[in-house]
Amino acid sequence: MDYTAKLDEALSRLHEEGRYRTFIDIERRKGQFPHATWRKSDGSDTPITVWCGNDYLGMGQHPAVLAAMHEAIDATGAGSGGTRNISGTTVYHKRLEAELADLHGKDAALVFSSAYIANDATLSTLPKLFPGLIIYSDELNHASMIEGIKRNGGAKRIFRHNDVAHLRDLLAADDPCAPKLIAFESVYSMDGDFGPIAEICDLADEFGALTYLDEVHAVGMYGPRGGGVAERDNLAHRIDVINGTLGKAFGVFGGYIAASTRMCDAIRSYAPGFIFTTSIPPAVAAGAAASIAHLKTDSAIRERHQTQARILKARLKAMGLPIIDHGSHIVPVIVGDPKHTKALSDMLLDGYGIYVQPINFPTVPRGTERLRFTPSPVHGARETDTLIRALDALWSHCALNRQELSA
Ligand SMILES: Cc1ncc(COP(=O)(O)O)c(C=O)c1O
Repeated sequence: MDYTAKLDEALSRLHEEGRYRTFIDIERRKGQFPHATWRKSDGSDTPITVWCGNDYLGMGQHPAVLAAMHEAIDATGAGSGGTRNISGTTVYHKRLEAELADLHGKDAALVFSSAYIANDATLSTLPKLFPGLIIYSDELNHASMIEGIKRNGGAKRIFRHNDVAHLRDLLAADDPCAPKLIAFESVYSMDGDFGPIAEICDLADEFGALTYLDEVHAVGMYGPRGGGVAERDNLAHRIDVINGTLGKAFGVFGGYIAASTRMCDAIRSYAPGFIFTTSIPPAVAAGAAASIAHLKTDSAIRERHQTQARILKARLKAMGLPIIDHGSHIVPVIVGDPKHTKALSDMLLDGYGIYVQPINFPTVPRGTERLRFTPSPVHGARETDTLIRALDALWSHCALNRQELSA
């Protein structure tokens, strides 16, 4: 086989569809979020404002987080030195897991290298623990859940997005004695809509199913202590496994599940994605624990976050832009074409120093390509004004020049 030709073929398919992903090299500036520097391919630097980050609350620059990380590095060095099983379980990991269990009101928590790995490892392991398990998965679940469910070789049913009637039909059609698990998200990151947690828990009770909730885009941001939407709605006790990330609102890195002691013990003992990999660095665990502890008491930052999102949505709506608004902190503006979306993103970056990554298929369905803005407490009036002015100028320009953009 001509391997090089095959690679070229695969890449040119992406170029032709306008789906080829380009990353921009940025250097974030501690103390100045959301401002950063864009290092261009010619080596020059340009100041930019990041409008698509997932450090939703700016905790990546919080003094309490940085102090905990510095302290841990000075005390214990760089890496953990092992897998969790072989010398890589440190006091920092245990402290972080205790913080997480407390956050979600669960008996235990398990930290993984990322929430992606936590989803993949847990969902692919559950059928080993519950032979014959059927997993009911929302059609818009994140790739990490889909991969875990696919890889486990067990039975799966996909229900239409947030459609509890469809979920009910699927549950009712299966053997009442079969073990079952419903996997879904609390905030879907591309549209910013909420999962129907209470209704799904009701169905789980009725059909004897376990519940698995990905709160990656909610932890830190929703609930009186940042325990997510399930905490906000007083439903955490009805969820068997909560999945979350330490890399978005908590501003650091890593992922986890929180569940019963027995569930965590079983996953710890059977999941290859937990067992056969080096544990996260102690300083990362220390920073994440400090961030969680801080956010348990800082409701003001959560309110500022929601206020920034409301302001941006109101201003975009006033301009007549096609935004999706489900009342969450995520602000998608639908462009509806991959080339136009990329062109708009390029023009915002080149002309205005505004960085918002285009979101294309397969992350979102074709025809719904979008710019996804993530306002945060560190985006103030100055940043919002600049963004609104730029979008105002470019949106009308783009509407008049669709052919030019398509060229
Ligand atoms: C819904 C959802 N779950 C899980 C993940 C994975 O999180 P992490 O970045 O910690 O791997 C993401 C990622 O971005 C996500 O959007």
